[in-house]
Amino acid sequence: MSWLDDALINNIRQDAPELHIIKAQYKEFPDGESYVRLPVEALDPDETVILQTLSPPQDKSFIQLLQIIDAALNLGADKIAVFTPYMAYARQDKVFLKGEPVSIRLLLTSIYAAGARFLFTIDIHNPDSLSLFPGKSYNLMPTHLAVKPLVGERSNKDIMIIAPDKGALQRAKMTAEAFGFEYDYLDKQRDRITGEVIIDDRGISVRDKTVVIIDDIISTGGTIALATKKLYAKGARDVYVACSHALLVGDSYVKIKSSGVKEIFSLNTLPPKPGVTYIDAITWSVKRILESL
Ligand code: R5P
Repeated sequence: MSWLDDALINNIRQDAPELHIIKAQYKEFPDGESYVRLPVEALDPDETVILQTLSPPQDKSFIQLLQIIDAALNLGADKIAVFTPYMAYARQDKVFLKGEPVSIRLLLTSIYAAGARFLFTIDIHNPDSLSLFPGKSYNLMPTHLAVKPLVGERSNKDIMIIAPDKGALQRAKMTAEAFGFEYDYLDKQRDRITGEVIIDDRGISVRDKTVVIIDDIISTGGTIALATKKLYAKGARDVYVACSHALLVGDSYVKIKSSGVKEIFSLNTLPPKPGVTYIDAITWSVKRILESL
């Protein structure tokens, strides 16, 4: 996939020269079905790591992942680890409205059923959902890397990390503690039917601070734009955004920039979008995966 470009492959090679990297071949049949092929004669039964992010179109990326697992088994791989930097469907981790599926459970059990026994992902929406994977799973958290470009010329007292909702507080805490920053959270409620988001500032104090809103996913940008407006209204000097997965659908970038966000930093878990500053978390993760297997 173009997301895993030569520059990224070279970074991984430099950091983990022991790896033998094979690029899968992808095609689409005229009727829309997916085709993949691993262009090798055989695979080492002991260690195969399949790197496939579940980028949009997520359903296609997911089928391709299952196909690659099956192809790897056919080539003799036995101990298969899957690394999905972006785990799609992670937000449907429970039945919110009667009649819904737990979509993430379907993905995780299907990956296991296909033959993978180890699963690595980056900053999954709800780490608890990984317990639904029947094998061994790891939630890698390189979120501090997304904030690093802002550290340097500013003093620790100037920067504050803000989670846009209570569910994101642990991520904000971890990231803030890596640099000794203050942190807090906003209160976000989403209407499950209309999708409308309401944010309450909880009376937090951000006056004259450089605020970094940290979130796992930016999709429509609605959460970030609303949070940014609230933070400026509370006297924040500058607002930056750091996320793990910049889906940035539709007009989200314009929406976020119009709310006054100075810059968007993201980990490189998804294909790049214009205007975003990316930080390589894949090379960092591959190193940890090799240490864990
Ligand atoms: C939801 O709880 C997630 O953590 C993100 O806050 C959410 O997915 C962001 O979505 P959007 O950009 O559409 O507001």
